[in-house]
Amino acid sequence: MASAALSPATADPVDEKLVIDDVEIVSRAKAPEGLPFDEVLSGWLYREAETRALEEDSFENPGMLAVERGEEVWNTVDGSQGKSCASCHNDAAETMKGIAANYPKWDVDAKRPINIELQIDKCRIENMGAEAYKFNAEEQVALTTYIKHQSLGAPVSLDLTQGELQSWWDRGKDVYYTRTGQLNLACASCHEANAGKMIRADHLSQGQANGFPTYRLKDGLVSLHQRFRGCVRDTRAETPKAFSDDLMALELYVTWRGTGLAVETPAVRH
Ligand code: HEC
Ligand code: HEC
Repeated sequence: MASAALSPATADPVDEKLVIDDVEIVSRAKAPEGLPFDEVLSGWLYREAETRALEEDSFENPGMLAVERGEEVWNTVDGSQGKSCASCHNDAAETMKGIAANYPKWDVDAKRPINIELQIDKCRIENMGAEAYKFNAEEQVALTTYIKHQSLGAPVSLDLTQGELQSWWDRGKDVYYTRTGQLNLACASCHEANAGKMIRADHLSQGQANGFPTYRLKDGLVSLHQRFRGCVRDTRAETPKAFSDDLMALELYVTWRGTGLAVETPAVRH
């Protein structure tokens, strides 16, 4: 990478185990075939000790407020059918356990990949007579956090044989390796070629998706597509729309790159 902002200083990820409320979860895993790494590493391993400690204690993790809020939304009636999520799905701790670790999935009706945010919208429209949420609506982020949190500790595992997921994966890979913007950078320039190095005051991780929505100490809760858009903006390129084909393909591909890592939602990052 040509950017002068990148200092040659390396700062290795820590050699520690991620233990949330006394339960150890997987923060490094053998890389899926085809990646130039031996191991995939959670972004948690690249953060400072204080930030890491916040994620390890649910009482301290500020993202847990969104989980509580999401539970409220889950139980709230909305739309013309007089239903809440709970009317059909009952207790999320049982019915949503482990589900989000296998998303994105193939949506047979829409003939494209579906993530948790879009699945929520689908149920709101088809099953509740309610409207889709606006991107990053407070309820959308809270409900997504709540549902993904029901998979805390479950290893990310996608089934790419569903529908046309494999060709969307190919497209996501293209996006990942294509240099764009005035800075002419690809995702891979930072998160693959330079993972473990410092960029300005920031320690570059592998850019894994397993902790989203994530609580950022400077911004509060951040959804995955918001993070993607932020990273693209940093290359001074046009930012694709949330849930657009490019970003859905990217979500599928980036999530796959974290195969085997535990879901950490809500992760804490700086
Ligand atoms: C009228 C009943 C009904 C309501 C209300 C409803 N859903 Fe669903 N939901 C379904 C059905 C039916 C499916 C598809 C079959 C399945 O996967 O269980 C589904 C599927 C899902 C899935 C995918 C499960 C999987 O295995 O991949 C999620 C996540 C989900 N709903 C979340 C929600 C949320 C969040 C709400 C509230 C905003 C909600 N649903 C409201 C009936 C409902
Ligand atoms: C100019 C360098 C740069 C580029 C290019 C870049 N990112 Fe990032 N990204 C960062 C920095 C800095 C962070 C915050 C520190 C970290 O986790 O690496 C970050 C964080 C992330 C995270 C959150 C990781 C976590 O553990 O919370 C994801 C996901 C991510 N990037 C994905 C992408 C994707 C996908 C692309 C390509 C569209 C991309 N990034 C392009 C610099 C970059």
